[in-house]
Parts: sequence; structure tokens; C-alpha cells
Amino acid sequence: MKVLELYSGIGGMHFALLESGIPAKVVAAIDINPVANDVYRHNFPETVLMNRNIQSISAQTLNKLDVDAILMSPPCQPFTRLGLQRDILDSRACSLLHVLSLIPKLKNLKYILLENVQGFEVSQMRNKLVDCLEECGYAYRELMLSPSQFGIPNSRRRYYLLAKRKDLKFCFEQTPLQNDSSSELLKLLPKSKHFLLAEKTGKSNSRSGKICYTLDNIVEEYVEESRYLLHPNFLIKRAWVIDIRTPESNGSCCFTKGYGRYVEGTGSIYCPFSDEMINLKYCEALDHREDSDEEISVLMELKLRFFSPREVCRLMCFPENFVFPKYTSDGQKYRLLGNSINVHVVAQLIFLLCTEDKDK
Ligand SMILES: C[S@@+](CC[C@H](N)C(=O)[O-])C[C@H]1O[C@@H](n2cnc3c(N)ncnc32)[C@H](O)[C@@H]1O
Repeated sequence: MKVLELYSGIGGMHFALLESGIPAKVVAAIDINPVANDVYRHNFPETVLMNRNIQSISAQTLNKLDVDAILMSPPCQPFTRLGLQRDILDSRACSLLHVLSLIPKLKNLKYILLENVQGFEVSQMRNKLVDCLEECGYAYRELMLSPSQFGIPNSRRRYYLLAKRKDLKFCFEQTPLQNDSSSELLKLLPKSKHFLLAEKTGKSNSRSGKICYTLDNIVEEYVEESRYLLHPNFLIKRAWVIDIRTPESNGSCCFTKGYGRYVEGTGSIYCPFSDEMINLKYCEALDHREDSDEEISVLMELKLRFFSPREVCRLMCFPENFVFPKYTSDGQKYRLLGNSINVHVVAQLIFLLCTEDKDK
């Protein structure tokens, strides 16, 4: 199978394709961001990577590549619920509209997988996408999934659309998007290492209600602490609103591209001590609210820090052989990872997309 990876970023879709075990080759990857492209090239030096605006790609070019499948995670800013939701009027949506104009012209295209943020499902873009698919003779399934439904201690609820030519049959039915379809899907999939680890660690996540493994499974043994410790300025302003997780936690919040620069709402903060110790120190800090120096020095004892880029990679299920070039800064790493995808969830979806229902 020949795969076109659009909006390829740091190659999350390429890693997912490899993990899925589907015999396939990425024949071209396209992205406009040179920093992301450096990372992609570093990991996939053999893959043809076009540093181009997708709007400049013609159907003729893609037909020459004989593309069977498109994997893509287009920019989410036009659709995110935290943004202006300008949808198809947002200039960042133009390239996806261009992709929709190409789909009817691609002679061998059989499969499409699209990932986007929650909010896409109610967008005009989504309606244009499904209209285009129906007109071109594709069947599709839509899903809303988070890694925590697969045993991974991270929330990243995302919209997924899987489409395939109508003569190729899906092995699962559409369920209402609001429903949690993960248990039905998991029955169709081989048990993954994440699922097995979650079964072994066996703790139900108090927020998602799902069984996820604990964070001690992903934290680095040695982390250059001073590099990731929360600056006292963060503690003065934000100590009471951050989401703190410990080695025993079996969940973490979605990491966004602002992680490392901001602490509120951009992802969880790690503390190497227990919940009891955190409660104790926060109570002690409360007693010193009049004396900010003392308050900060009490909180500093908790060694609160950002998850390292490697730890974020692990929570997003990038393989250990994924590496950033040496000159990539931590800020760039967090930004690129925040824009990327959960590799394992997408790998499972690629497997489902390419599995035919033999009975139909
Ligand atoms: C949500 S990210 C996708 C990340 C990718 N799947 C990964 O694993 O890193 C969207 C990507 O689309 C790229 N992009 C946005 N508009 C583009 C355009 N018009 N042409 C090419 N790439 C574009 C951005 O540079 C960014 O890397």
C-alpha cells in the first residue's frame, strides 16, 4: 500500500503506520514547517519529504505517486473549541479544502484517515468532508477517542474519521459519537502492550473511569531536574491551579504546544513524591500565604517539574527510537509534540481501517 502523509509534522502518522503492522510505505510526506521537517528527516531519512504548502500540490503529482491511502492531521486552530472557530473561513482551513478538491481526482485512492480536535465533528468542514466522501463513493466511520481508553495514562480526546472505498467493507459499525465505543473496538484488536500493562497495574482512573497504567512506567530514571523544575515565578502565580501527578497517578492531561512556557491548562506537572506529601506541603504553604518567600520555599521542596520531552513522547506512544536532532530546543520539542498525535491510538485505527469484513 502506498501512503501519502499530509501535514506530516514530526511523523506521528508514519510511526503509527509502522506500529499498525500493515504492509505499507510512505511514498511522500508534506509539511510546511521547516523545524518539524528537520525532525521528520532525522527519523525517516529515506522518505520523500516535501517542504511545501499543500495548496500547491496537484492531483497529477499525487497520481504519479500512485497513492492508495492518505493519512492526515490538518491544523486544528479553525475548529478548536478554545479558539474563534472560524471553521472554513479561517485561512488555515484552505489547504484542507484543497485536499477535498483533490480527492475526486485521485485514481487509486482507497483509504483515508483524518485526525482532528474535538469540535471538528460539528464544523462545516466536517460536513464538506463527508459530502465529498459520499459523492466519491467512500464509506466512513467517525470516532471520538482518548489514549486513556487504551490503557495509556494520558487524556487527548480527538476526532477521527476513517474512510474507505465502498467495495471495501468496514469491520465495525458507526456508533453515536458521544458513546464510548472503545470497548467494542478493543475486542476487534490484538491486545497491545499498553493494554496488558494497564491490566497488570490494574488501577481505575478516577477521572476517565478507565484502567490505565501508572506514570512510574514512563518517567525517566534520570532527569536533569534543574532543566525542568518549575520556576518560582510559576509557583507564586500558579501553584494553586496546576494539575500535579505523581509516580502512582494513572492519568495526565493533554499536552499542548504551550507546555513548558505556561503551566495552566497546557499539560500536567510531575511531582516525585506521594499525594500525602503534596497535601502536607500545600497545607504548610497555606500557613505561609502572607510570606511569599517562605511559601515558595515550602513548595519548592516538592520538586515540581515539567514532564521531560522524552516522557511526553512516551505518553504519546512514540517509540524509543524516535529522536529529535541534537539542536532542537526543549521549547521546540514541546511545541512539535503538542501538535502531534497519539501514535498508538492512530496505529490501532489504521489496523481497523485496513481490516476488511469478510462476511459482507
Ligand atoms: C496538527 S499538526 C500535524 C502533526 C503531525 N501529524 C505530527 O505527527 O507531528 C499540523 C501540521 O500541518 C502543517 N501545515 C499547516 N498548514 C499547512 C499547509 N498549508 N501545507 C503544509 N503543511 C501545513 C503544520 O506545519 C503542522 O506541522
